[in-house]
Amino acid sequence: MAEETRLVRQKTVRLFFAIWPDKETRLGLGRVTGRLASVCEGRKTKAENIHLTLVFVGEVDASQVDALCQAADEIEGSGAKAFDLVIERICMWKRKNIVYAEINEVPKPLIDLVEALQSRLSLAGFSLEERPYKPHITLMRNASCKTLPVAEPMVWRAREWVLVKSDQTSDGSVYTTIGRWSLEG
Ligand code: 2AM
Repeated sequence: MAEETRLVRQKTVRLFFAIWPDKETRLGLGRVTGRLASVCEGRKTKAENIHLTLVFVGEVDASQVDALCQAADEIEGSGAKAFDLVIERICMWKRKNIVYAEINEVPKPLIDLVEALQSRLSLAGFSLEERPYKPHITLMRNASCKTLPVAEPMVWRAREWVLVKSDQTSDGSVYTTIGRWSLEG
């Protein structure tokens, strides 16, 4: 994923908070996604784009990025805890035609982080989606599968989270990190 320390001048930006996999997990999930190609038709997520969304912010004015970073600074300052995500299963979300990696047991620090973000962003005036948070790692979109691959068990060590800008291009989504915060422990 590309990284930039300041925003290119854009009037509005499409943003989300997420966790990006460590190298080992990225390679493991990349191998699963590679195997999907032989049993499914659909649009694979590129290995460098694989992530877990925390909060989808959506299209906002570029001037609001500072407020988002400030909310994230405050959460980091309050000591958000590190956690591990165990992945053992690849699933299909039939209604959305998405193939995703499922998190075995959703760790409490992940929920705490999502809830802290939701509440601070709401207080700061951002309108967020109201549907319940369902953590998932999208591996293929518009998917139609004969069967699903078995995942090698993986432990994804989440030690930081990021604010990401999403640009839609003819080559699919391009993600750029615009902020990075640590998890404690
Ligand atoms: P998805 O993988 O299930 O589509 C960037 O688009 C990230 O934000 C994706 O992980 C996407 O989840 C998530 N997301 C959540 N709500 C979204 C929305 N309304 N539109 C686009 N992406 C959304």
